[in-house]
Amino acid sequence: MKSVITLAIESSCDETSVAVVRDGRQVLSNIISTQMDEHKKFGGVVPEVASRRHIENIQGVVQESLDEAGVKFSDIDIVGVTYGAGLVGALLVGLSTAKAISFALGVPLVGVNHIEGHICANFIAHKELEPPFACLVVSGGHTHMVEVRGYGDYNVLGMTRDDAAGEAFDKLARAIGLGYPGGSKIDRAAKLGDKEAIDFPRAYLEKGSYDFSFSGLKSAALNYLNSKKMKKEEISIEDVSASYQEAIVDVLAERSIRACIEKGYKTLAIAGGVAANSRLRERLEGDAKAHGIQVKYPPIELCTDNAAMIGCAAYYDYIGGRVSSLDLNAVPGLRIGERE
Ligand code: KG4
Ligand code: ZN
Repeated sequence: MKSVITLAIESSCDETSVAVVRDGRQVLSNIISTQMDEHKKFGGVVPEVASRRHIENIQGVVQESLDEAGVKFSDIDIVGVTYGAGLVGALLVGLSTAKAISFALGVPLVGVNHIEGHICANFIAHKELEPPFACLVVSGGHTHMVEVRGYGDYNVLGMTRDDAAGEAFDKLARAIGLGYPGGSKIDRAAKLGDKEAIDFPRAYLEKGSYDFSFSGLKSAALNYLNSKKMKKEEISIEDVSASYQEAIVDVLAERSIRACIEKGYKTLAIAGGVAANSRLRERLEGDAKAHGIQVKYPPIELCTDNAAMIGCAAYYDYIGGRVSSLDLNAVPGLRIGERE
């Protein structure tokens, strides 16, 4: 069978990324143009600024991606693009570009769910990985416990009721002056701290639930910081980071391992920006091993936003017959498994 060359575009947040992927799992190029430095000074992503930068960057990134892959527009078989979830203005830039390319080349357009893209990063990193397996999706905007029953077939067991795990990391980082984005900085500071120094709360919710809640932890941390400040006591950034990270990791690990045991999965994948967290990886590997479960995660550059994962998801959607029409719109609150 002739191979399928996918041109994939991701612009849901502050990364303009374009990739060329062969047959879903072979990445020929994955160009990521980050706007992080620009948003840093505001302490978070400014949606209007993100949209404008995507417009300025997108054409150059498409060309760079094609050049690096050594393919021409005429080699492209399908165009995959993130159409949700994400910032609407940012999504529209990638979506309009993808539609234009698909229309001009006369090739199918495949709208991809960003969260499903994060899960698919594992297919690129682990060539032998096949569904079914359980997947913990933890990013700046999402925290989901998912059953991957087949390609493009997802069942959500639970999700966050308030803040996402990445958001919780980012909020603490801002409060202790580590800046944006905070996850990797807390990860680094925590290595030098004592994870038992402060007893932060863990929200396990009702028995048997796979949902998450991180807003109580965030409030507890802010209260802790305020009371230390009032008493003019010194704060150990390392200890706060380590204790806070441990509170997040404890809950993520409990949900993930329980999902595998209760639903009978022998493989647990993790996905999204927080899957880059070194303590989460270490903890899950340890807990999983004790139960005969294998843990899979993508390399760091495939954990955070990138178009290669979108190309992989687009390929499996395409071969599963799920293609989009040119009137596809951006859906900022798109959920896993939902189709337009
Ligand atoms: O998946 P992603 O790039 O964007 C979304 O789709 O949201 O995730 C970004 C999130 C940010 O909240 C960032 O702080 C977090 O991932 N993150 C980390 C680490 N690296 C990135 N969180 C914890 N530890 C890390 N090493
Ligand atoms: Zn993401």
